[in-house]
Amino acid sequence: MNLSTANKERLDSFWSYCLQHQYFNIGYPESADFDYSSLYRFFNFSLNNCGDWRELSNYALNSFEFEKDVMQYFAELFKISFQESWGYVTNGGTEGNMFGCYLARELFPNSTLYYSKETHYSVAKIAKLLRMKSCLVDTLDNGEINTDDLIQKILFNKDKQPIIFANIGTTMSGAVDNIANIQLQLKQIHIDRPNYYLHADAALSGMILPFVNNPQPFTFADGIDSISVSGHKMIGSPIPCGVVVAKCKNVDLISVDVDYISARDQTISGSRNAHSVLMMWSAIHSYSPLEWRQRIEHCLNMAQYAVNKFQAAGIRAWRNPNSITVVFPSPSEKVSRHYHLAVSGPLAHLITMPHHKTTQKIDELIQAIIIDQQELLEHSAYS
Ligand SMILES: Cc1ncc(COP(=O)(O)O)c(C=O)c1O
Repeated sequence: MNLSTANKERLDSFWSYCLQHQYFNIGYPESADFDYSSLYRFFNFSLNNCGDWRELSNYALNSFEFEKDVMQYFAELFKISFQESWGYVTNGGTEGNMFGCYLARELFPNSTLYYSKETHYSVAKIAKLLRMKSCLVDTLDNGEINTDDLIQKILFNKDKQPIIFANIGTTMSGAVDNIANIQLQLKQIHIDRPNYYLHADAALSGMILPFVNNPQPFTFADGIDSISVSGHKMIGSPIPCGVVVAKCKNVDLISVDVDYISARDQTISGSRNAHSVLMMWSAIHSYSPLEWRQRIEHCLNMAQYAVNKFQAAGIRAWRNPNSITVVFPSPSEKVSRHYHLAVSGPLAHLITMPHHKTTQKIDELIQAIIIDQQELLEHSAYS
């Protein structure tokens, strides 16, 4: 690259900033302990995975053979036979959620999309883009969907083919919607297969639940029709990416022939990132299932450590089962900004990712919050 000295200096300064902040994104669920250096050489090529990895595309520089392996891995992880599944490596959890909603809308064009108030903000955008009718459902105190309210709203809309967007780990509190209860209650109101669609947004927890002893139901074996997971969250990647898995028979409904690439296509975008496919492939081959279990167990232990430490200081912190998201009362804006915390109304959270090898950063943050709480109390006592 032909950069001026000033521009080189700008990049150098940004490099220093990144090094400084690399491991301190504690408010957001991004794993930072990845090493994809063996893939750097592929940045010399304009790789592109446009279209379906099952096809022989005319665009030769693709990483389709690796994408196939990735999809085989996730089909097994999410309990669907590879032959019955189809999915692809996306630009992130949002694209996977959009793909799931798109499939559902093609199956049930006049139906309503039901999602809880704790659902990620991008889902309202998806409903708008796809011009889907949508209905907001109440949540329980822990953040999971209130199934009674969901059923009442489905009955009220007299919706015989509801599309349910289930959170498998909400953004703010890691709450998992009760898939088993939803399906049981649908049956009780005489809505049974194949007359509903269940999409699972498993952005973070999709790479947690397969590796714990008592996972909440969330897979195809539990009745899900499609699942989206983020690649840059628990797996870890320098580029946002994700994986979506759906049922092949539903995907075939939206598949079209594209003569320009001489292949079939059913993905959301045209050009697709082939480098992130290589990253996902490397990541899944870098850890055995036992090693993933150990990574997840470490994160869960760290989350419980944080809860205990908060509680010992009299601060009401909590977490949902199998969640690495620790929820606590919002600190002052000064502390939230300093530690880059995600805050939603009265609540904030920290997320214990695998790169938190020791408790040092967690201790530092909790100590700052304890002092902050004391200052807030003193301030309210004087005013
Ligand atoms: C529950 C949930 N769904 C969807 C998303 C969006 O995922 P992405 O950022 O990978 O597009 C997030 C991101 O934080 C999330 O927490």
